[in-house]
Amino acid sequence: MKVLVTGGAGFIGSHTVVELVNAGYSPVIVDNFSNSEKSVLQGLKNILGFDVPFYEFDCNDFNKLKEVVEAEKIEGIIHFAAYKAVGESVQNPLKYYRNNLGSMITVLEVMKEAGVKNLVFSSSCTVYGQPDHIPVTEETPKKKAESPYGNTKAIGEDILEDVIKSGEKMDIIALRYFNPIGAHPTAEIGELPNGVPSNLVPFITQTAIGKREQLTVFGDDYDTPDGSNIRDFIHVVDLAKAHVSALELLKSKSGNTYDVFNLGTGEGNSVLELINTFEKVNDLKLNYKIGPRRPGDVVKIYGDVAKAGKILNWKTQKSLDESLADAWRWEQKLKNN
Ligand code: WQD
Repeated sequence: MKVLVTGGAGFIGSHTVVELVNAGYSPVIVDNFSNSEKSVLQGLKNILGFDVPFYEFDCNDFNKLKEVVEAEKIEGIIHFAAYKAVGESVQNPLKYYRNNLGSMITVLEVMKEAGVKNLVFSSSCTVYGQPDHIPVTEETPKKKAESPYGNTKAIGEDILEDVIKSGEKMDIIALRYFNPIGAHPTAEIGELPNGVPSNLVPFITQTAIGKREQLTVFGDDYDTPDGSNIRDFIHVVDLAKAHVSALELLKSKSGNTYDVFNLGTGEGNSVLELINTFEKVNDLKLNYKIGPRRPGDVVKIYGDVAKAGKILNWKTQKSLDESLADAWRWEQKLKNN
């Protein structure tokens, strides 16, 4: 089955391309490299042993997208392509609404025209905002997103639901990621933050390698056991495998369905626990200090992942230790290159 992977040169997209091939699928990448690097394609070749077909253009370009979908006889699409910097989205909301919603709508319009019926959408636990109860299930009510980025994911899900309600002959799954971390065990692909990382783990590894002076922990006075925020940190390879499981499920669907799955470990770890684990696993001391809270941060959230276990027949295999060892190996590889 030929699967179009939009944003396939990105962090989660590239790891998903590997797992698609491992599962016997034929991925085709579309990426405009606005938030990824072409070197990822070489990393994929080093892992897979062949050049993954790719096209360089913006997913908002209906004609180009339709042309590729028809030429490559695409039967399924995994839509990752989106801007994802929470802070930037607050400064520049229109850039996020235009790109993230525009590309989603274009993908759906091309699917309608070309008769593609399977879609997996990259959503986010950010749609839950600060939940009243944790762990969150897929039935936990969505809350006003903390950022325009998060809102593009929430609105994206609403668009998908409305398209299915209109009777379109499509089967669609939205996957709500918690906090993806780590890198491929080969250290051939991993996270490539644009500029100063806003996410925790890349900032930790860049501090440990000496690229950043010091990590600031954004607050240790929260209502949690050690005072720091709690998150559900999931290995990116586990996350990638869930996309294959989602495609498998779509193949068995009837042609007008929409469903949502939480993708997490089902466990919460605090920021300070993660730092301590990173130091232990990699046998090093991290230079960090406690600083003020970051506006918009959710105090604690982690996923109830029973539904993905039951219906997708998927659950995480990798530990936090493995995620942090793989993240560190990747940072060291980057330095050597
Ligand atoms: C995690 C924790 C910070 C950096 C966001 C998006 C989510 C997804 C992942 C895109 C928080 C703390 C962080 C630092 C710190 N985005 N932290 N010092 O905010 O949970 O989720 O990124 O796909 O949709 O909402 O991730 O890694 O930024 O923060 O103390 O230098 O680490 O306060 O508690 P977050 P994060």
